[in-house]
Amino acid sequence: MRIDILTLFPEMFEGVFSQSILKRAVAKGHLELHTHDIRDYTKDKHRKVDDYPFGGGAGMVMMVQPIADCIAKLKSERNYDAVLFMAPDGHTFNQSKANELSLFENIIILCGHYKGVDERVRELFVTEEISIGDYVLSGGEIAAMAVVDAIARVIPGVLNDETSALSDSFQDGLLSPPVYTRPADYEGHVVPEILLSGNERLIKDWKLEQQLARTKARRPDLYEKIVGKQDNN
Ligand code: ADE
Repeated sequence: MRIDILTLFPEMFEGVFSQSILKRAVAKGHLELHTHDIRDYTKDKHRKVDDYPFGGGAGMVMMVQPIADCIAKLKSERNYDAVLFMAPDGHTFNQSKANELSLFENIIILCGHYKGVDERVRELFVTEEISIGDYVLSGGEIAAMAVVDAIARVIPGVLNDETSALSDSFQDGLLSPPVYTRPADYEGHVVPEILLSGNERLIKDWKLEQQLARTKARRPDLYEKIVGKQDNN
């Protein structure tokens, strides 16, 4: 899979893309990540990429031309399955969206800044608008990093133990159970005995119970979706 990111701050991605799972996904050839500085595409002699909003209002608006030219160049080189725009007023990102996007061959992610981007960018080029939550970030970059990371970890082969992405919270609609490692007794705080029992069946049952209890307590909305109907009967 190839992801092209359009941003005014390409350096922001360097650290995140060169560590951990994303680094491994790229090194193993499962993922290609390219950042493009939108400023490189401006035709303005002062390298401007934004301007005052028509009709007044606070903040600057990113102009169509540099973004349009960058997208046109990329599209002349390959076909894209989606052009995502990171925006707080987009659809809220979740695990099933990450799974769905991970099946695509090539995607573009556009990061907005300032007070927004000219609406015509959204109308002409964007196929999907994605928010990572109901709060406003200074720009789409941090949101794009979250989306890229969530996509990368579900691309088959990226994680060493392929089952570990499948057992992530949300993959089955439930939160993950608690996990423990050595020592079994940390200053009197002991690991649940069942995990030391070696009885695989009992451990599996215990994990599911924990998942259900956690999901019910912390995310009643998810719990309702999974077991609410059975509970009500
Ligand atoms: N840009 C600014 N805030 C954002 C958010 N919550 N999600 C996605 N992109 C954003």
